[in-house]
Amino acid sequence: MATVTFDKASRIYPGADHPAVDGLDLHIEDGEFLVLVGPSGCGKSTSLRMLAGLEEVNSGRILIGDRDVTSVLPKDRDIAMVFQNYALYPHMTVRENMGFALKISKTPKDEIARRVNEAAGILGLEPFLDRKPKALSGGQRQRVAMGRAIVRKPQVFLMDEPLSNLDAKLRVQTRTQIASLQRNLGVTTVYVTHDQTEALTMGDRIAVLKDGVLQQCGTPQEMYDRPANRFVAGFIGSPAMNLGTFRVDGDEVILGSASVRLPRTTVAAITGADEGRITVGFRPESLEVVAERPGSTIPVVVDLVEELGSDAYVYGHLAGAADPAVGAGGESADSPIIVRIPPRTAPNRGETIHVRIREDQQHCFSAATGERIG
Ligand SMILES: Nc1ncnc2c1ncn2[C@@H]1O[C@H](COP(=O)(O)OP(=O)(O)O)[C@@H](O)[C@H]1O
Ligand SMILES: [Mg+2]
Repeated sequence: MATVTFDKASRIYPGADHPAVDGLDLHIEDGEFLVLVGPSGCGKSTSLRMLAGLEEVNSGRILIGDRDVTSVLPKDRDIAMVFQNYALYPHMTVRENMGFALKISKTPKDEIARRVNEAAGILGLEPFLDRKPKALSGGQRQRVAMGRAIVRKPQVFLMDEPLSNLDAKLRVQTRTQIASLQRNLGVTTVYVTHDQTEALTMGDRIAVLKDGVLQQCGTPQEMYDRPANRFVAGFIGSPAMNLGTFRVDGDEVILGSASVRLPRTTVAAITGADEGRITVGFRPESLEVVAERPGSTIPVVVDLVEELGSDAYVYGHLAGAADPAVGAGGESADSPIIVRIPPRTAPNRGETIHVRIREDQQHCFSAATGERIG
């Protein structure tokens, strides 16, 4: 087992004007499950492939343990990668697929058999060892791909969107299986996904990337409770955090016809570049429906109610937003505000409800830079 360190690692593809990965600094602990997450094209696969040795590192270094592997061949890095498309050999049985890398490295036959049987036992693949991939379900193929990585007993597992070919229900089952398998094996794992729910549920820590730049790294709880900037705030959490840019008046922020008091340290951190505005975020569950108190409760016109059984969400918009340049839920006044309410208490469409942000549950970001304030 080993730690993994990205030390200001960058990758610029030939002919590109921006780095695909830009000065990535990330230290992953021995045995840790680290999830790299971000929207499509943000540089997740490139980062993983740099660690695997499949992509050149143009500047910076990559270390596995204390060893600088920046220019070490992939086969000498002691890593095993699970790809999105599994890349199983169609003409080989499950047993042969799982043992193939060991055979190539001239591992003795009885050792291969022992390791393949052991991995098959862990993954529940014993009944399928003599089948070819085409006779397996998607979930079984996924487990064979995992098995192929496990038999190699590598120092680090690398997984690139290994669940994206599974249907929604299987994806949920498999993500808990992979997470508990990783904890049992204790092998340092770097896992790539674009799905923030996977990141929150699987990772010991999450690293969010955007445009090749690391935005924040922390535990799921830290990322959810204290997003470092507006991007992370909007990316982590489902339904997404309501976010809007509003006018500041003294020590209050004006949300439609309501004003909300800001902490003094927050007001003090607003700069000239913010031009008297602040970006405020509040999660759907940070709002509570209350009796109207003119001037201090936020009026929301109900557009749609989504009943999910255990919860319900109101999708509405801010009533009486005077300034069309500002709004919540996105960038414009008519983008939605989402409010979580108890199930079966839904107001009617067109009704106005009044909500309040629960004590200390607003997040403030600089209108100019998007960085967290306070
Ligand atoms: N082989 C390549 N040649 C040139 N550009 C590439 C190559 N692979 C990826 N890119 C570009 O690098 C950026 C990051 O890609 P990638 O790491 O695959 O993102 P992700 O896995 O997060 O979706 C994207 O803009 C993509 O178009
Ligand atoms: Mg990718």
